[in-house]
Amino acid sequence: MPNLASHISSVPASGIRRVFLLASELAAGGEDVISLVVGEPDVAVAPHIAEAAKRAWDRDDTNYTANAGIPELRTAIVEKLARENRLVVDTEQVWVTVGATQALDQAMHLTLSQGDEILVPDPGYTTFSMVPRMLDAVPVPYALRAEHGFQPSIDELDALVTPRTRAIVVNSPSNPLGTVFPESLLRELLSFARRHDLWVISDEVYEYFTWNEPHVSIATLDTDDRVFTAFSLSKTYAMTGVRVGYLVTPPGMAATMRTVQEATISCVNTPAQFAGVAAITGSQQAVADAREHYRANLALATALLDSRGIRYLRPRGTFYLWIDVSHASDGDVADWAERFLLEQRVAVAPGSAFGRSGEGWIRVCLAAPEKVLLEGLGRLPAGPLSTGALPTNLPQA
Ligand SMILES: Cc1ncc(COP(=O)(O)O)c(C=O)c1O
Repeated sequence: MPNLASHISSVPASGIRRVFLLASELAAGGEDVISLVVGEPDVAVAPHIAEAAKRAWDRDDTNYTANAGIPELRTAIVEKLARENRLVVDTEQVWVTVGATQALDQAMHLTLSQGDEILVPDPGYTTFSMVPRMLDAVPVPYALRAEHGFQPSIDELDALVTPRTRAIVVNSPSNPLGTVFPESLLRELLSFARRHDLWVISDEVYEYFTWNEPHVSIATLDTDDRVFTAFSLSKTYAMTGVRVGYLVTPPGMAATMRTVQEATISCVNTPAQFAGVAAITGSQQAVADAREHYRANLALATALLDSRGIRYLRPRGTFYLWIDVSHASDGDVADWAERFLLEQRVAVAPGSAFGRSGEGWIRVCLAAPEKVLLEGLGRLPAGPLSTGALPTNLPQA
């Protein structure tokens, strides 16, 4: 067999998938496994969304579409951006993608050459580090530490910039932390990017799930066209497997985007795009219901952790909970998560899968039936504190 491209072996495997696969094997063997490991909404997709996809299939609307997506969907997105995000863009800036995953991939394809560096949050969603490696570029982690309210330090960011740095990934609401960046911090991040002439790639897939905190799109603060934003319908509308997201680019990139989109996917699955139109333009009741379900689960989960003295970061967004298990994990939370699964039959994501700063922590997905969630959390080893949530969103030091 000939050799694979040399940089492919540098793409890190997902440490979340490892636990997920082990849990699936146990479940296939008839074991009763509680899975709190993947970011999968536990609610059903709204019927009007499924109907729209079915209607497209029934009328044989199954041909290629324009690279950017069907006009109805792009228009619906432009209107949603203006209404929900206060982001006024031209249709040519909106590109329908295979989930936010491809939107991120596209943005990184456009901005990174071989050997370039991109600043990525640590802990941060695994794809932020995987895609640069696919491009033979270098993800450079910036730490989000408890001592700093789990927010980036601009001084530390300044120190990480080299002549090869091209971009920074900003993810608010954050997976895995659940933090939401206030507008003041987003402004600081933008002026940092301006100072070093960097692109900003903003991931906003959890925009609809914030708890008493407004979601601000960093692109609304952009004054010199340096922000790409990846959005997704996956989590909002409980349609992760339908694979619809979109990338909002700075103006003037349509010709380049068309070429890149043609070379990578041609276009997104046509019936899925019609499902996307129905999702964005139809009733938003299911989104509101899902939000209430996650909010209620969050309250129950934190009450349980409080009562058992387990430390956690009180999230301001997403449907995740970032929990400190350093009292039990003995410096290797990946190993501990596997043992916890084998011994207690509960699958959680080890924090180290999201970067070095995640050592000693786990991420739990709150999108689960209440009973399952509480049973799973109840099997965690009791913690050292009698009560206590860590503060989050502390002001910048
Ligand atoms: C922060 C973040 N970005 C992007 C994605 C990918 O989403 P999509 O299903 O839209 O590709 C996820 C999925 O978990 C995520 O958590």
